[in-house]
Amino acid sequence: MKLKEEVNKVIKAAFDKAGIEAEPIGVTEATKPEFGDFQFNGAMALAKVLKKNPREIATLITDNLDTSGILAKTQIAGPGFINLWLNDDWVAKQCNEAKNDERLGIEKKEDPIKVVVDYSGPNMAKQMHVGHLRSTIIGDTLANLLAFLGDEVIRQNHIGDWGTQFGMLIAYLEEQGSDGSGSLRDLEQFYKDAKKRFDEDSTFADKAREYVVKIQSGDAHCLGLWKKFIDISLGHCEEVYKKLDVNLAREDVRAESFYNDSLAKVLSDLDKAGMLSESDGAQCVFLEGEEIPVIVQKSDGGYLYATTDLAALWYRANVLGAKRISYVVDARQGGHFKQVFRVAKEAGFVPEDVKLEHVAFGTMMDKNGKPFKTRDGGTVKLIDLLDEAVERAKEAIKNKADYSDEEVEKIAKIVGIGAVKYADLSINRESNYIFDWDKMLSFEGNTSLYMQYAYARIQSIFRKYGQEAEGEIVLTDDLEHRLAVMLLQFEDILKKAAEDAAPNQITNYLYELVTLFMRFYERNPILKEEIDEKVRTSRLLLADLTAKTIKQGLSILGIGVLERL
Ligand code: ARG
Repeated sequence: MKLKEEVNKVIKAAFDKAGIEAEPIGVTEATKPEFGDFQFNGAMALAKVLKKNPREIATLITDNLDTSGILAKTQIAGPGFINLWLNDDWVAKQCNEAKNDERLGIEKKEDPIKVVVDYSGPNMAKQMHVGHLRSTIIGDTLANLLAFLGDEVIRQNHIGDWGTQFGMLIAYLEEQGSDGSGSLRDLEQFYKDAKKRFDEDSTFADKAREYVVKIQSGDAHCLGLWKKFIDISLGHCEEVYKKLDVNLAREDVRAESFYNDSLAKVLSDLDKAGMLSESDGAQCVFLEGEEIPVIVQKSDGGYLYATTDLAALWYRANVLGAKRISYVVDARQGGHFKQVFRVAKEAGFVPEDVKLEHVAFGTMMDKNGKPFKTRDGGTVKLIDLLDEAVERAKEAIKNKADYSDEEVEKIAKIVGIGAVKYADLSINRESNYIFDWDKMLSFEGNTSLYMQYAYARIQSIFRKYGQEAEGEIVLTDDLEHRLAVMLLQFEDILKKAAEDAAPNQITNYLYELVTLFMRFYERNPILKEEIDEKVRTSRLLLADLTAKTIKQGLSILGIGVLERL
């Protein structure tokens, strides 16, 4: 439910009753339990407008606040803050409704829009690296989140499948014979070997250059080789997607080459808009206030990364009809996106009302704070990394219970992959991120295991109880009250996380929720014999709603839960 909106309505009613003619600034979640559930901090700003002191205004508002419905009590604090407590019965009623609803009381958006989420985007000429891992994990979460809230999400995998290096690569693929899949297992090695041939053998180098021209002019033989090369490379990426359990399919691939035929039009349209100028033989767009121009065509006639992105922007806004286009790409490409977004808007490729955003993320570092590399300085293969996660997860869980080998395999996958994803999603995405196995696979702290463990623990309470809990949630003390209010905040949290494209707002929430639940569970026993049946049922139902919220939250993050752990 939209909890904040409900509280804001009550405040608005008080404004109307008190004759205050201003839009009330929305309430915020209270930062400490002693400040209630929500706080209204708008009195200070109003004081200036109404020329009264803030406490007077706070009093005026509280005098007119209805405390017979949603609100139980209010209190003025400090210079003019209003602390607000929600009414137990009302909160309980909302929780009872949420628990009976498949979507936990979260309605789909009334005004859904089409959103393109551009993520993963590996380069076919190179091994997929940790940066693409981050993009894949964050992008998939953003796409899941927006789709859950009701938007029409179009996933786009903008793979790098075009450029001069492909001449060399397909010439080498041809030389290697057979279907090439063997020698292409390790793309990095393949690239190195091809490059070595290129540098050492001038006949090979000539052929490679000739092949570049041939692919570009549509030569069937070369295009065939190129297609095969892309197919095998993409197959490697798809292995990673499968292990990661992300929702990216072949249909979502809209590769750089897809836009080849539109590039000339990008230039002529820029020209028509009067935005094109020549500089050192290259075609450029100079933006006001920016020193470095956007180069859209090199002097040799070749197009660039930016040209393709302009064509893609046009396509996404005009053909796909997106109203929001989110690029989940390394923060180091910030300059690039800032420029192409501006060019696209100024040239009218993208209507004014379309939101363009660079969902930037920082670099993945090792435990010593160095960019993530293998011991010999090479790129860490993602497949190996994910396999290691599963192996380590096995170690972490194996002594926890008597699992069969089969169970260990299944659990380790969910735990290991979940840990890698959660660790990535739980930090502010723009910061650099320190990859630390021990931390991510811990049962303590803000980790996926902590959430999965809490979920499994609740399931075990139900197994012990041995029957369905039937009845109603009734709130009897402050911890139950706080847990219930927090459960109702789920939709507000998801909405804000979607708006800010910030998955860590979801993980922060889950962490607080589970921590609060653990405290509640320690203090308020559920299965002890002497407990009143009504209270027991209510606590069981609160536990159940907590578990469902954890499950839903993790599912948006692309992480599974386990019935036993
Ligand atoms: N292939 C690019 C890279 O590895 C990422 C593509 C991001 N998407 C885009 N539309 N530019 O850096």
